[in-house]
Amino acid sequence: MKSDWAALRAAATAVAARAHAPYSGLAVGAAGVDGDGTMVTGCNVENASYGLTLCAECGLVSAQRAAGAGPLVAVSVVAGDGAPLMPCGRCRQLLLEAGGPGLLLDADAGPQRLGDLLPGAFTAGDLKSRSARDA
Ligand code: THU
Repeated sequence: MKSDWAALRAAATAVAARAHAPYSGLAVGAAGVDGDGTMVTGCNVENASYGLTLCAECGLVSAQRAAGAGPLVAVSVVAGDGAPLMPCGRCRQLLLEAGGPGLLLDADAGPQRLGDLLPGAFTAGDLKSRSARDA
């Protein structure tokens, strides 16, 4: 499937307008599609207890599960101005589980593979191969 990056970025920009970001002032929106073209979105939700802040990608992966969508193949994360924002490290890890290393991320210079943005990631494979030995 060829991704419609303009539509994805537009959806991310639209949902960024619903962010709850009174503390940082940085509204973030995320939109992703699975292989069937099902689109899901999420925005950041901050909290007076700063550490409880939910990134936009947290909402995105929750929406993916709630919608019964499959693995995400393309994701756009933007700030309130509509320009791409590269996901934080924690969210790269979340996206890896939600789509795998081949997931493409919208970026200024063109789509980038998540596997290139999070090399040597910890995955379920590490749990399987290491947990029994370390117990
Ligand atoms: N933020 C996201 O939503 N996603 C990211 O990948 C980076 C940061 C949000 C969290 C917080 O509400 C604000 O941006 C400032 O860090």
